[in-house]
Amino acid sequence: MRVDVITIFPEYLAPLDLSLVGKARTAGTLDVSVHDLRTWTADVHRTVDDTPYGGGPGMVMRPEPWSKALAETRRPDSLLVVPSPVGARFTQADAAELASRPHLIFACGRYEGIDQRVLDEAADLMPVREVSLGDYVLFGGEVAVLVIMEAVTRLLPGVLGNAASLTEESHSAGLLEAPVFTKPATWDGRAVPEVLRSGDHGRIARWRREQSLLRTASRRPDMLAAYPDELLDKRDRAA
Ligand code: ADE
Repeated sequence: MRVDVITIFPEYLAPLDLSLVGKARTAGTLDVSVHDLRTWTADVHRTVDDTPYGGGPGMVMRPEPWSKALAETRRPDSLLVVPSPVGARFTQADAAELASRPHLIFACGRYEGIDQRVLDEAADLMPVREVSLGDYVLFGGEVAVLVIMEAVTRLLPGVLGNAASLTEESHSAGLLEAPVFTKPATWDGRAVPEVLRSGDHGRIARWRREQSLLRTASRRPDMLAAYPDELLDKRDRAA
């Protein structure tokens, strides 16, 4: 997968060299370039923003550098991702969609956002996804790109050792995962639940399923409400 990130703070994206994302880059699964938007400015001050039409606080990113940046990075198979507090909520399903694409361009907005005409023009040329990480406002899209890229990279073929961890994990299964434990069996006076040490795989699966349902009910009732009814059996309902 090829990824181009356009930002006025390229240093913010340095963590893309670390951890599994960095490993995927080294392995050649992922080819990432980070570009400084100011490269595409034409004035001596390398201006990227100006005051908003209609008044109001803050500054808006000017269309000219963005339009040039997108024209130079776009390919026939590109998808443009614009992290923004006014985007649709980014989900695991979105991560899967992005992971299936050959080329992503990330446009990192700052200040009050990017001139709307840039996004309108881009939408005539390629699919555009405006995505929000949650109901809070960040300074800009850079940190959101790190989050999104981590969610996407995990789904690329060959990145995770154990593919089962993808199918069973929270959010891809529609429920939160059960709690996890490792050795020692008793730590600080607290014992690992007996069932997990029983070796009885049927009981273990049942216990994990119940914990998963209980957790989801108490922490994310919205997820439980959206869970398909036909996936709940009699024992699930009893839990
Ligand atoms: N940029 C600013 N706030 C954001 C948010 N909540 N999600 C994604 N990008 C953003």
